[in-house]
Amino acid sequence: MKTILLVFGTRPEAIKMAPLVKAFQHNPEDFKTIVCVTGQHREMLDQVLKIFEIKPDYDLNIMKQGQDLYDVTARVLTGMRDVLKEVRPDVVLVHGDTTTSTAAALAAFYQQIPVGHVEAGLRTHNIYSPWPEEMNRQITGRIATYHFAPTQLSRENLLAEGVKDKMIAVTGNTVIDALHIVVDKIKNDASLNQLLAAELVSAGYDTSRLVGGKRLVLITGHRRENFGDGFISMCRAIKDLTMQFPDVDFVYPMHLNPNVRKPIHEVFGTDLTDLGNMFFIEPLEYLSFVYLMEKASIVLTDSGGIQEEAPGLGKPVLVMRDTTERPEALEAGTVKLVSTNYNKIYNNVSELLTDTDAYAKMSHAVNPYGDGKACGRIVDSLR
Ligand code: UD1
Ligand code: UDP
Repeated sequence: MKTILLVFGTRPEAIKMAPLVKAFQHNPEDFKTIVCVTGQHREMLDQVLKIFEIKPDYDLNIMKQGQDLYDVTARVLTGMRDVLKEVRPDVVLVHGDTTTSTAAALAAFYQQIPVGHVEAGLRTHNIYSPWPEEMNRQITGRIATYHFAPTQLSRENLLAEGVKDKMIAVTGNTVIDALHIVVDKIKNDASLNQLLAAELVSAGYDTSRLVGGKRLVLITGHRRENFGDGFISMCRAIKDLTMQFPDVDFVYPMHLNPNVRKPIHEVFGTDLTDLGNMFFIEPLEYLSFVYLMEKASIVLTDSGGIQEEAPGLGKPVLVMRDTTERPEALEAGTVKLVSTNYNKIYNNVSELLTDTDAYAKMSHAVNPYGDGKACGRIVDSLR
C-alpha cells in the first residue's frame, strides 16, 4: 500500500485533479489517497470541490485578498512542511504551473519525497509569457521524479531537457476526463439542464435569449502579464464589438482577481448591469460553465484550460495571449493567437461572426489533449 498525497489550490488545478483523486480512491487496495488543498483560491476552489464531492483531508486556507506571488509561495511552502511530516507520503502529486504546484513540489523536495508532475512538459520557452507559469512548470519539472505528459509534444519537450524516457508517461490531459464527466451528466439529464439554465439566470444571463440563431461569444480573462494595458485594450475591443454586433450576446464570467475587475470598470463603468448585449457575471460553477460553452459560437479567452476544452466541443477559440504552451489545437486550426491587441481582437472576432467559411474552418471538433482516460493511465503508471 502506497500513500499518495495530491496537492492543489486553484480552480483549474482542482478541475484537473478531481478525476484523479477519484481514480486513486477507486483503488483502495493499492493506494491510500490523501488530499491537501492550499486554498490559493477560496470561492473558486470550493465551487469545484462541491461539484466533484471532494472533502480535503488538509486545507491550508492561504488565500488573502490581493495576494502577491511572495505571499502565495511563502504560505504554501511553510504550510506544506507540517502536512508532509504528518502524512509521510510515498509520492506527492502536483499539477501544472501554478505557484501552489511549484511551492508544494519544493516543500516535498525539502523532505526528499518524490514528486509526480501531472500535466508535465508544456513549454513556451519564454519565462515571462505566461508569467509566472512558464517558470513555475519548468521548476516543477526539474524537481519531479515522475512526469505525466499530456501529449507527445510535451514528452518531447521533457526529453529535450534531459528527462529520462522511462520517467515520462504520455497520458492525455485529465481536463478531458473532467470534461467528459460533466458533458455526460449534462447530456443525459433534462432536469439538470433546467437547473443549469436557472443557475445561469440567477448568475445574470438567460440562455433562452439564444433562439432564432442568436449567437453567443463567451469571454474569460485573468493572465497576470495582461494586467493593466493588456486588459484595457481587450475591454475596449470587446466594447466596440458589442456595438458593432448588437444581435450577438457577449458573456464574460469575471475572475475574482481585483486586477481583472478594475479595467472592466474603467472601460464599461461602475455599474455593469443593463449593458444591452454585454453580460458581466460572477465566476460560474464548472457544470454551468461547460453548459454555456456548449452554447457559445466563439470563445475569447486567455485561459489555459479552456484552450484544451473548447476545441473538443468544436468551438473556435481566440486566445488573448502572445504565446501558448498548447500548440496542438493551434496546429489543428481550431485555436488562434490574437494577443491583447485591439485590432487583432476586433478583426478576428468580426471575421468569425461575418465570414461563414472562416468560421467553418475553425469550428470542427478536435481532441489533441486526450481521450478522457488520462487518470487511469496515471494510476496504472504509478502502480
Ligand atoms: C492563479 C494562478 C494562475 C492560474 C489562475 C487560474 C499563480 C501565480 N497564478 O492566478 O496560474 O491560471 O489562478 O484562475 O499561481 N480571488 C478570490 N477568490 C478566489 C480566487 C481569487 O477572491 O476564489 C482573488 C483574491 O483577491 C486573490 C486574487 O484573486 O488574492 C489572486 O489570486 P491568485 O491565485 O494569486 O492569482 P490568479 O490570478 O487567480
Ligand atoms: N471555468 C469555470 N467557471 C468559469 C470560468 C472557467 O468553471 O466561470 C473553468 C474552465 O472550464 C476551465 C477552467 O475553469 O476548466 C479554467 O480556469 P482558468 O481560466 O481560471 O485557469 P487556467 O486554465 O488559465 O489556468
